[in-house]
Amino acid sequence: MTCHTSGDLQEIVDEVVPLTNDGEVADYIPALAEVNKHDLSVAVYNVRDNTCIYAGDYQKKFTLQSISKVLVLALAIQDRGYGYVFDRVGMEPTGDPFNSISKLETSVPSKPLNPMINAGALAVTNMIKGDSALERWSRIRDFVQRLASDKNVTCDESVAKSEFETSCLNRALCYFMKQHGVIEGNIEELMDIYTKQCAIEMSCFDLARIGAVFALDGKDPETGKEIIPKGIARICKTFMVTCGMYNASGEFAIKVGIPAKSGVSGGILGVVPERCGVGIFGPSLDKRGNSIAGLKLLEILADKNNFSIF
Ligand code: DON
Repeated sequence: MTCHTSGDLQEIVDEVVPLTNDGEVADYIPALAEVNKHDLSVAVYNVRDNTCIYAGDYQKKFTLQSISKVLVLALAIQDRGYGYVFDRVGMEPTGDPFNSISKLETSVPSKPLNPMINAGALAVTNMIKGDSALERWSRIRDFVQRLASDKNVTCDESVAKSEFETSCLNRALCYFMKQHGVIEGNIEELMDIYTKQCAIEMSCFDLARIGAVFALDGKDPETGKEIIPKGIARICKTFMVTCGMYNASGEFAIKVGIPAKSGVSGGILGVVPERCGVGIFGPSLDKRGNSIAGLKLLEILADKNNFSIF
């Protein structure tokens, strides 16, 4: 695998970086507020020749936050099977913000609408197998290490702790679902695993490498070995299209047109089937919680390279 800087990519970064002025970094998780809002980096991993190009500080690390939801979903379906998972979590997009509780009350039987909103993701994390919270977390971490092909990938303990100590809303979602039988077990343990998965830390290069696995329907781009069964990779990519950018997913499908998943840390995972994986980090967010400059960057990149799958 070779990796080099790209003048073309850098031109796009330079063009969109002023947009970082118009957004804000997430601060509802205190540790996330400490980043530089003008950071912007991008890596593109080409699966056809295992080369990677990047622009910006491609080694700068950030936490996955909601991007972890799609990865943990892939593991949960492998652990429990399609029927078990989708008996408990729906498949429909929602026009509501990612942390909304309202639909849990109005839908019967309180089944979260999809695995990309917080309620659905918490229910999915609860499904990960293991004899202890430590084993369940370790299985998630090991799976993400395989996807990134990097044994050093792990969580940023201080970000995990910062979220653990402040996530009243996520705890409320959990207790609501527990009352209605959607999840079972100890909520504090679940919050421990969930906040760690959200705090998994990596660079835009690692993220592009994970995108490359999805671009190949779950196969490792270097060894050709299956990491995610094809049918499960397909389900994950479909959720990325319908719900990956939260309540901006429709607009994103029109403007960019690829499976993608964002996180409040400012990361975006993009997948161009059979072509490449894209990793972006730009922590300045728009009102819907997506990287403001990252979105524009992807839009330009997709337009120039005809990425849209539609
Ligand atoms: O649960 C949370 O609120 C965060 N750990 C993740 C949320 C997130 O990334 C939503 N993204 N747009």
